[in-house]
Amino acid sequence: MNIAIVGASGAVGQELLRLLDERNFPVDELVLFGSSRSAGTSYPFKNKSIKVKELVHGDDFKGIDIAFVSAGGGTSQAFAETITRHGAIMIDNSSAFRMDKDVPLVVPEVNPEDALKRPRGIIANPNCTTIQMVVALKAIEDITHIKKVHVSTYQSASGAGASAMRELEDQHRQLVNNEPPTIDKFAYQLAFNLIPQVDVFTDNGYTKEEMKMYNETRKIMHSDIEVSATCVRVPVMRAHSEATWIETERPLSIEEAREAFSRAEGVIVVDNPAKKEYPMPLDIAGKDAVYVGRIRKDLTNEKGLTFWTVSDQIRKGAALNAVQIAEYLMK
Ligand code: HSE
Repeated sequence: MNIAIVGASGAVGQELLRLLDERNFPVDELVLFGSSRSAGTSYPFKNKSIKVKELVHGDDFKGIDIAFVSAGGGTSQAFAETITRHGAIMIDNSSAFRMDKDVPLVVPEVNPEDALKRPRGIIANPNCTTIQMVVALKAIEDITHIKKVHVSTYQSASGAGASAMRELEDQHRQLVNNEPPTIDKFAYQLAFNLIPQVDVFTDNGYTKEEMKMYNETRKIMHSDIEVSATCVRVPVMRAHSEATWIETERPLSIEEAREAFSRAEGVIVVDNPAKKEYPMPLDIAGKDAVYVGRIRKDLTNEKGLTFWTVSDQIRKGAALNAVQIAEYLMK
């Protein structure tokens, strides 16, 4: 396969490189694109050193089979036609096309077949918070329909990009040295704090991030599921956590739910309260699965169940999901 990565120097682009190598993805040729700032930087891949080219209009994607695009919505919009013109499949990590009717939005554990219908040659990778949630929801949906979800997220700095991760590190160092913290990538100081806002507010009082969870979940699950989300940025480096409450059509016992999670593709259960065992972002960073713990019955509603998930935002939340889509297409 001839592969292109657009946004190769970013946190997701770098993880894509690692995953293609680690998973022995059949790569014949690899072309890396980036901004003018990252052009010229070289990255090792399978004993070769590959230089990042600046993406410009007029670039030729002829011969490319799959282009992983992770350079922001503006770049995706501007280059989608160029990338797909000669038949390359564009797996797009931005939100530019996610809700378009003729663009499938795919999480391989949930709706892989959707990837096969792509009239524009574009497959969208969902938002990280949605991916993490639907992988867990699918386990339960397989045994009884989920009617409602209330979710609170605890989102790591990585969701705002590599420079935001550096900003969080800088803030810690600056505060320890009694210096004023740099505040550029986040609305406020994130170190020793949390920010109940991810992305911008829409006119219903929810943020764009929260509305993505509502809309994308319904599209991926082909469901009328109701989702109400509160998305919060926390001073964690690279794994998102979510406290999820669901209402199901029929009541579920904890044992039944635990068994469903244990069987589900892409899910690992870590849930032993007696031994203080539950997933935490520090332990999950760098891992592939969605980890589920703290599985409990709702105390006020017999059809209510609540649980806790943690997953690496750069891996399953972004790069890994994209690579799994490509692997599915090769089956
Ligand atoms: N929008 C997410 C975040 C990143 O800011 O955490 C999802 O890829």
